Amino acid sequence: MIADLIPDMPWVREAPVFLVFCGNNRRIRQVAELRGKPFANDHLDAFMNAAVDAGIVMTTFIHAAAAAGLGCCPISSVRNHAQRISELLALPDWVFPVAGLCAGYPAGRGVVTPRLPLGVTVHTDRFDETGIVDKIEGYDRRRAARQPYAKQRGIERYGKAEFYGWSEDKARQYSVVQRADFGAFIRGKRFNLT
Ligand SMILES: Cc1cc2nc3c(=O)[nH]c(=O)nc-3n(C[C@H](O)[C@H](O)[C@H](O)COP(=O)(O)O)c2cc1C
Repeated sequence: MIADLIPDMPWVREAPVFLVFCGNNRRIRQVAELRGKPFANDHLDAFMNAAVDAGIVMTTFIHAAAAAGLGCCPISSVRNHAQRISELLALPDWVFPVAGLCAGYPAGRGVVTPRLPLGVTVHTDRFDETGIVDKIEGYDRRRAARQPYAKQRGIERYGKAEFYGWSEDKARQYSVVQRADFGAFIRGKRFNLT
């Protein structure tokens, strides 16, 4: 069972519904065969296309679920166990898990977390990082004032920060190797990543 693989996230087990959104590059290959045409796109974009499509579908599902009063929590951690989950779900070549999603009626009222300002995420006419550090630090402060982190990551490695903002949390999160075997898993699904 998938929940057994992710015991540190009990919401995976508790959610009434758990979905796994998969990238599927198999179908287009089947269609090529069905119509007697060569599949001439056996390269990195085949993987990219399938992965992005799955992300779009998941986002659309989240919006539809929210409109119906459901809450969702995406679970990237399924990729920490890609091979095992692939076996559990009998995923064939060219089909791979992108993310899981817990869905259910929320037990309580949620909060809307402040987001990075558009000045960080939107670039008009050309890519522009002017003032990025100040903008991120400003966001850290605004977010911490409204919604401070209940827990700091990696205290044993980095100590307890006096001010613990979003950027400190993300930097600590990504300082730990995760899913380094995912490329090998994807190549094992016969994707040609050149
Ligand atoms: C692509 C993606 C992957 C995520 N993966 C996980 C996960 O593996 N485990 C988890 O508990 N939450 C995961 N989350 C949920 C976030 O940790 C967070 O709870 C969610 O984005 C909503 O919180 P926020 O509005 O405060 O950002 C993920 C969110 C996104 C968008």
